[in-house]
Amino acid sequence: PTTEMIDPFGRAVTYLRVSVTDRCDFRCVYCMAENMTFLPRQDLLTLEELDRLCTAFVEKGVRKLRLTGGEPLVRRNIMHLIHALSRHLRSGAIDELTLTTNGSQLARFADELGDCGVERINVSLDTMDPDKFKAITRWGDFAKVMAGIRAAQAAGIRIKLNAVALKGFNDTEIPAMVEWAHGEGMDLTLIETMPLGEIEGDRTDQYLPLSEVRANLAERFTLTDIPDKTGGPARYVAVEETGGKLGFITPLTHNFCESCNRVRLTCTGTLYMCLGQEDAADLRTPLRASESNALLSNAIDEAIGRKPKGHDFIIDRATRKPALSRHMSVTGG
Ligand code: GTP
Ligand code: 5AD
Ligand code: SF4
Repeated sequence: PTTEMIDPFGRAVTYLRVSVTDRCDFRCVYCMAENMTFLPRQDLLTLEELDRLCTAFVEKGVRKLRLTGGEPLVRRNIMHLIHALSRHLRSGAIDELTLTTNGSQLARFADELGDCGVERINVSLDTMDPDKFKAITRWGDFAKVMAGIRAAQAAGIRIKLNAVALKGFNDTEIPAMVEWAHGEGMDLTLIETMPLGEIEGDRTDQYLPLSEVRANLAERFTLTDIPDKTGGPARYVAVEETGGKLGFITPLTHNFCESCNRVRLTCTGTLYMCLGQEDAADLRTPLRASESNALLSNAIDEAIGRKPKGHDFIIDRATRKPALSRHMSVTGG
């Protein structure tokens, strides 16, 4: 079945990203301030409500569900939701059920995720150096994340690593990360830091355009563009020397919004039609107003009808202010 959800620019919305919690057990310095005020627990949708919302989107044509956060695996009883959603995989209603995680809890959940039909997951990892890892996450344990990655691999789950490229932090390490990730059979995607949410330091100084990174990598490796089939923001190259795939997510140097296929739901039932815009739709009210999905379905249509053309992120060297006050951990990337 094709999607009922076509936005004003003719883009089909087939991908729902769901931030199941705004909490995280890390505090990556580019993502959060050290002292964050998280949502009061009573504001969260229940897992049953999240299931109902996701299912409404699936019925309207979503083919891919990705759980994010915060850290999705710190949401209490999250496996109940993942088990419930896996019925859409078994029925063929969706093609993929997946997650973006920091890996800290993966060792505990890997087997069960595999049992639910999760075939691949994205793990955020910005460095391979345990001390630097501790610094960037403020207290994260690299060994625990590695154990999570190993457990996922043992469960037959493929892994893509996401690394935010940061000047003066991991820039010199990137070629080694490419070799290591590809040697382990994992793809790697590099991400430009996006101006979302007040953090303690300053993103302006750490911003590293990926065009620069790519030019440097091209001196060591033979990079061949892979035509995009994913509709996602990453543009991939094949690395001849390693046999692996390397992705670049470049919201600042190259805008990919014309092929956007996604919307984002938060753990309070707010739908963001774009990661880089403030406009949002409240789906919690129509969800709770009635047992039937009619109101909800109308609210979704109305929201898709105002999906904006794209973000307008810039790294503002003059004001050094984030484009949006909302943190990435609320919308889930
Ligand atoms: P694949 O399913 O592997 O294609 O994953 P993905 O790239 O869609 O998801 P992932 O959760 O790994 O996201 C990686 C990074 O891409 C995160 O930092 C996201 O914030 C960023 N990202 C994903 N979608 C968008 C988008 O629509 N706009 C922008 N600006 N960034 C995005
Ligand atoms: N800019 C770019 N990426 C970010 N992430 C979190 N905050 C930012 C930001 N400001 C990344 C995480 C994770 C993904 C979901 O988003 O590292 O890989
Ligand atoms: Fe947590 Fe991910 Fe944000 Fe790091 S980037 S603090 S792991 S939500």
